[in-house]
Amino acid sequence: MYSLPNAQDSANFIQLTTAGDPAEALARLSRLYEHQAVFSTSFSMEDQLIAHWIFTRDLPIVVFTLDTGRLFRETYAVWSRTLERYGKPIRTYYPDAKPLEDLVGKSGPNAFYQSVALRKQCCHIRKVEPLGRALAGQKLWITGIRASHSNNRGDIPEVEWDPQHQVIKYHPLLRWTDEAVRKEIQRLNIPYNILHDSGFASIGCAPCTRAIKPGEDFRAGRWWWEDSDKKECGLHLHDPDVNKKRGTT
Ligand code: ADX
Ligand code: SF4
Repeated sequence: MYSLPNAQDSANFIQLTTAGDPAEALARLSRLYEHQAVFSTSFSMEDQLIAHWIFTRDLPIVVFTLDTGRLFRETYAVWSRTLERYGKPIRTYYPDAKPLEDLVGKSGPNAFYQSVALRKQCCHIRKVEPLGRALAGQKLWITGIRASHSNNRGDIPEVEWDPQHQVIKYHPLLRWTDEAVRKEIQRLNIPYNILHDSGFASIGCAPCTRAIKPGEDFRAGRWWWEDSDKKECGLHLHDPDVNKKRGTT
């Protein structure tokens, strides 16, 4: 059962997300939350599949990305190929210039390697603050999160309440496997980030992402120099208690 702050929202989700087909659920949700539903893309495999469903069905869901200014050129390449393939806009958010100028001016362009605090400050300026602007006034935030991405994503619900941004979060591919996503990408000939073909699993900013070796954790290549319990950038803060208190399963 989903228990979101509004009873009608809970009822909508029980009906829709138990239907099984995430593309169909997205279509119906986009009608229910018309002009208040957004999808965040980092151009990962899962994000590309969700974007394909949104663009090919012409769903009224705004697709947006957060350009940190430090993405891989391969990420910019798949972004361009996506625009060419679908001919649909991707709303883009940039960091505020002033705090970024202050950070880089004081601590240099690669401050994130110096301390966890500076790394989090960089993530806050380049991702978290722009995300707040992207979600302002929205009701539904769709993401490409999958449970197998990391241990702390293993027990999150498909639908959760985000108290920080006051939106419902929906992860349509949460229970999909890596292999299932790849298969769909190939079957539908969807453009994908070619870094995935050279050992990159989870892809974020270039200076903070490396390829992984066989057998390594999916997110082992992100902020690899930090302890694994610190490796979140602040876009997705999971407080299991919030959903437990609300009775979300
Ligand atoms: S992160 O928290 O480590 O940065 P991750 O790379 O796992 O996130 O991606 C999970 C989901 O967060 C993506 O499917 C996407 O919805 C969203 N996301 C991550 N990075 C960005 C970005 N730069 N722009 C927009 N959405 C993003
Ligand atoms: Fe800055 Fe690295 Fe975070 Fe990107 S991932 S915002 S470069 S600290």
